[in-house]
Amino acid sequence: MVKLHISTIINGEPEEFLCEPEETMLDVLRDRLSLTGSKEGCGSGDCGACSITVDGSLICSCLMLAAESEGKKIETIEGMSDGETLHPLQQKFLEEAALQCGICTPGMLVAAKALLDENPDPTETEVRFWLAGNLCRCTGYDKIVRAVLDTAQEIRETK
Ligand code: FES
Ligand code: FES
Repeated sequence: MVKLHISTIINGEPEEFLCEPEETMLDVLRDRLSLTGSKEGCGSGDCGACSITVDGSLICSCLMLAAESEGKKIETIEGMSDGETLHPLQQKFLEEAALQCGICTPGMLVAAKALLDENPDPTETEVRFWLAGNLCRCTGYDKIVRAVLDTAQEIRETK
C-alpha cells in the first residue's frame, strides 16, 4: 500500500507523518501521532467529539482525510492550554462542572474556543446554535452553555 508523506503544523509545531490515502485526520491524530484528546464518537460527522480547527475553521476530523492536512495549520485540544496553565474555557468547565464522563469535552472545548475567537460576546442562543453539532449524553447542556457564556464574560472583562 502506497503511503503519503504529509507536512503540516499541529498546535504550532511542524509535524510530518506517513499515512494511507484513505486514513482520516482523526485516525492519524490518535493512532500515528498519539494525540488522543480528540475522540471518536460516531465516525460520521454527527457528534462533534472529534472537533479540531484547520486554518482556523472548525471541522470534524473524522470527515477529513489526513492527506488534506498538507500545508495546513491544525489545532487540537492538546494545544489549548498554555503549558500547565489551562485555557479559561477549560478552567471554567472545571469550576462549573460542565462535564461528567468527559467524552464530549475535548470537542466541546475546541468548538467553544472557535466560537469565542470569532464572537467574543455571544448570546445564549448563539452558543446553543454553535454547539448544536456537539452532542453530550451526560450534562443536559445547560452547564456547558453557562460555562461558555461565563468564560466569554471573564475574557471580555480582563481585556
Ligand atoms: S466522531 Fe467525528 S463527528 Fe462524531
Ligand atoms: S460529559 Fe459525557 S458525553 Fe458530555
